[in-house]
Amino acid sequence: MRTEVRYFSRGGATKKLADAIGRAVGAEAKSVEVPLEQYADVVFLGASVYGGKPDPAVVNFIGANAKNIGKIVVFGSACTGKSTHAAIKSAAAGNAVKTAEMFFQCKGQFLFMNKGRPNDQDCADAAEFAKKQIKLLGVT
Ligand SMILES: Cc1cc2nc3c(=O)[nH]c(=O)nc-3n(C[C@H](O)[C@H](O)[C@H](O)COP(=O)(O)O)c2cc1C
Repeated sequence: MRTEVRYFSRGGATKKLADAIGRAVGAEAKSVEVPLEQYADVVFLGASVYGGKPDPAVVNFIGANAKNIGKIVVFGSACTGKSTHAAIKSAAAGNAVKTAEMFFQCKGQFLFMNKGRPNDQDCADAAEFAKKQIKLLGVT
């Protein structure tokens, strides 16, 4: 099973989670600016919340790489508890790409809120989530 990790990060929080997930699943985390050169069964996609939605670069990545994506697993952060999962799922469905129902979400630092998040525990939780997803998706 081939696994890839892609993310969009303005301030570094999503990259931090992506690097932790990449280490856990044995795939180097790369920006969404880097296309998928081969088919991947699972693409962990890091998409945090900006103005209530994912950055357009993430949506563009899905459209441009649809034929090489088996299934998307969303992860991200936000200053609220909100996730981009629903928006990503909808964008993916529009390109006939599947999205896992489970996703990883944690608090992200923004202005004076959630200082230091994602922290080491968030990264450990993201890594654990990713390993579980690989196990789960590997047997379905
Ligand atoms: C321009 C901007 C808009 C944001 N809008 C929201 C928002 O609508 N809702 C929310 O919960 N967090 C919002 N946030 C907080 C980010 O989701 C949070 O800081 C996240 O950790 C950023 O990830 P990054 O460092 O990878 O860019 C916003 C952050 C920025 C910079």
